[in-house]
Amino acid sequence: MSVRYSLDGIDILDSMRLKKRLVAASLLFVVAVLGACGDANDANIDDAASIDAADSGKFPIELTSRRIEAGKLIYSQNCASCHGPVQGPAAIDPAPVHGDAGHTWHHPDRLLYQWTLDRPPLATIMPAFRGALSDEEVLAVLSYIKSSWLPEIQERQDLGSAQYEAQVIEFGTD
Ligand code: HEC
Repeated sequence: MSVRYSLDGIDILDSMRLKKRLVAASLLFVVAVLGACGDANDANIDDAASIDAADSGKFPIELTSRRIEAGKLIYSQNCASCHGPVQGPAAIDPAPVHGDAGHTWHHPDRLLYQWTLDRPPLATIMPAFRGALSDEEVLAVLSYIKSSWLPEIQERQDLGSAQYEAQVIEFGTD
């Protein structure tokens, strides 16, 4: 967000006030977005998780430049036709954007991984990629999506992914 200090008719003090108001407004927005997180997908979190020994240690997904690079190509070949560029806009109306403005980062890595392989809960259009993409390719495409988020969003979603893993390990899925 850039506020120009040299606008005609707006002195520096005014533009500082404007800046403060913009910062306050964007904080409110973040709070509103987080508050609105109780969507249908979250109700399915418990059903969707299954303990797979082969998955242990995969999450939170470790971002490496190799994965991000590979994921970029996988994304453009398999996801962009519906989801558009990661930061939007989506290419078809019902497809959510995966960027900062979307909802993808409200979910832990384990679920994003399962949903990409086997479709999200209640999906109508989103195809399953099991068989089409390898496990590592799914991790790579998710790495690319994650790498596009603002650092504070990445941090938050990583923390959520780690907490989710701790719950899966401690309580299982019952
Ligand atoms: C044919 C169109 C299409 C393609 C291709 C597609 N998606 Fe989707 N995706 C959708 C739609 C539409 C939804 C919303 C659920 C529904 O109605 O199917 C969705 C939902 C999702 C969700 C759950 C919502 C969210 O953001 O948390 C994830 C994750 C996702 N897609 C990831 C991917 C990834 C990764 C790829 C590529 C490997 C991909 N999708 C390819 C159409 C598509």
